[in-house]
Amino acid sequence: MAAELIKGKEVASTIRQRLKEETEALKTRGIVPGLTVLLVGDDPASLSYVKGKVKACGEVGLRSDLKRYPATIREEELLKEIQTCNEDDTVDGILVQLPLPKHIDERKVIEAISPEKDVDGFHPVSVGKMVIGEETFYSCTPAGIIEMVKSKNIDIAGKHVVIVGRSNIVGKPAGLLFLKENATVTYCHSKTVGLSNYTRQADILVVAVGRAGIIGKEDVKPGAVVIDVGVNRNAEGKLVGDVRFDEVKEVASYLTPVPGGVGPMTITMLLANTIKAAKNRRGI
Ligand code: GUN
Repeated sequence: MAAELIKGKEVASTIRQRLKEETEALKTRGIVPGLTVLLVGDDPASLSYVKGKVKACGEVGLRSDLKRYPATIREEELLKEIQTCNEDDTVDGILVQLPLPKHIDERKVIEAISPEKDVDGFHPVSVGKMVIGEETFYSCTPAGIIEMVKSKNIDIAGKHVVIVGRSNIVGKPAGLLFLKENATVTYCHSKTVGLSNYTRQADILVVAVGRAGIIGKEDVKPGAVVIDVGVNRNAEGKLVGDVRFDEVKEVASYLTPVPGGVGPMTITMLLANTIKAAKNRRGI
């Protein structure tokens, strides 16, 4: 039987409606949550991502500000810009779009953001709190994945979740969030020997490696829930995931499409984090 699709757009739209109502309620108290996005350089993909973030803010009633800098900006100058945002009381959330030019140390930039405005959830304070199970900003893609799974009332507790990919942005935090939901978690990555032996044991399989079609039907247990985080362009220029969609949809119980799967959820969780930052900062 073909898998049921978990469509990010639909899940995102339900959550965004709730966020819009929450923003309207805050506005009646004179609070308009605001996100500042810093973009360095003019990479078309990054520009398109940040425009999507700014547009989404407007749709739920949040303020947003896109600050653009030339790719030649010095690290010191960028750090100063972040400090200005940290001190600006009208800014609730700060996001520096990654990747950054090679002459800028990404870690230094992330660590310069005040943890109370770290709506990306990338700051070591946010990551540390997540590790010890304290309330904090969770990185947006993993948080979106959990929401997608929950949207289908799929039980997570006690399930074996296999994560393929160990990036700081997706793989690592995704495993921690599933652990928080009481799943048993296995991490696989580029050095894993016999990847398929692990993926075939997954009740929930999360694939986030950025290699088109590395997971096929032979790698998936029948009835598994498969979350495809990959966004790759194939030889024809078409967007495809890390999972061979046509094959895997015949064995999985649930599957996320690419595009239209995890993508729309990432921005939605960013909006949620911005509202959370605004409330936290005011003790609401
Ligand atoms: N580049 C790709 N994804 C992301 C993200 O979630 N946040 C930031 N800041 N940069 C990214």
